[in-house]
Amino acid sequence: MIINIGELVGIVPEGVMRKQGGEMSETGVLKDAWLRVEDGLIKDFGSMTDCPDVEGEVLDAEGGMVIPSFCDSHTHLVYAGSREGEFLDKIEGLSYEEIAARGGGILNSSDLLHRTSEDELYEQSMGRVREVLAVGTGAIEIKSGYGLNPGDELKMLRVIRRIRESVPAVVRATFLGAHAVGRGYTREGYVDAVVEMMPKAAELADYVDVFCDEGFFSTEDTERILKAGTACGLWPKIHADELAVIGGVEVAVRHNALSVDHLERSGPDQIEALRGTATMPTMLPGSSFFLGIPFGRAKDFIHAGLGLALASDYNPGSSPSGDMRFVMALGCIRMRLTPVQAFNAVTLNSAYAMGVAHLVGSVTPGKIANLIVTHPGWNLTRLAYQYRSPFISTVLLRGLPLAI
Ligand code: NIG
Ligand code: FE
Repeated sequence: MIINIGELVGIVPEGVMRKQGGEMSETGVLKDAWLRVEDGLIKDFGSMTDCPDVEGEVLDAEGGMVIPSFCDSHTHLVYAGSREGEFLDKIEGLSYEEIAARGGGILNSSDLLHRTSEDELYEQSMGRVREVLAVGTGAIEIKSGYGLNPGDELKMLRVIRRIRESVPAVVRATFLGAHAVGRGYTREGYVDAVVEMMPKAAELADYVDVFCDEGFFSTEDTERILKAGTACGLWPKIHADELAVIGGVEVAVRHNALSVDHLERSGPDQIEALRGTATMPTMLPGSSFFLGIPFGRAKDFIHAGLGLALASDYNPGSSPSGDMRFVMALGCIRMRLTPVQAFNAVTLNSAYAMGVAHLVGSVTPGKIANLIVTHPGWNLTRLAYQYRSPFISTVLLRGLPLAI
């Protein structure tokens, strides 16, 4: 039981799986509240003026805010080593594409991953998982995509599975074999190989992803891979419109993708394509910030009546941070979202974008009690405004305090 909650924020009625358009500006708030957890799930909540008799363990929030944990629907946090060398090239002025063209970028991470044992890869990745859980992430999607050959892609997916089994957060796995063309393959040959990997990958993954962008995979490649993925029961989540607009959003929508991610360069045509679909537009402001590329036109999406999710894209090349509070702050500071819109984008909508909105992402009876208790005095606006000050008093995962 949590008592003396200053503001219980993110209350959503049962059955609501995402917010779109004007709904993005709303979230349920109860001031001066209590909340009861049973068997790791949110049982009920109410006002302190009629607080039931307290049984079992009690956590006094002392006036702090309670919000659902952040959901991070797009990460590549299983990787080996780092790409600090390229950071120096970037400072010198090389672009993401130039670094990739020199054989750096994703292929660099893939070579390192190949030389790293599965246990070591798990340990390094768990370090990052612990880091993000401590800053409030309670659900996380993790992609493969630094293997780029059958053996190493499956190694990554097994590491993600092991992470899923070792943490109390909700974890989902995405097969991103088509992240770059693996060494020694032609592009056509590699797309064939990805299609061949699909049945094995599907035993370990929930979703299939393609980096559908200029210099990476074409819409035709994407089409083929998504057909193979959906035939094996993998739901698409697509990288699109990060480097150029080549039709990735449209392919994703045709395949009823769960989400379409990046969208830095998307405009009115992509907004139109997304209207009336089940696909969640997902933006990754951390990579716009780090790469110095445009921020997605989040406001235009919302004004057109669409939903919006924000995720970290935690990866060594374009977003070496998985801090979802910073993502929320960037949503406000650089995309001009209101704090409530940004909050919905990093909780319920990002839960939807990783297919777990029935489990997490809001304060709803029956959902998993993955919650953040803040220090006294915090509210959503201050969270984004005073974006570097520590705000977390306690992280609860399945109702239990995370030992940080
Ligand atoms: O989401 N865009 C493609 N993939 C990653 C970058 C991965 C990397 O550079 O290692 C992204 O930004
Ligand atoms: Fe990504």
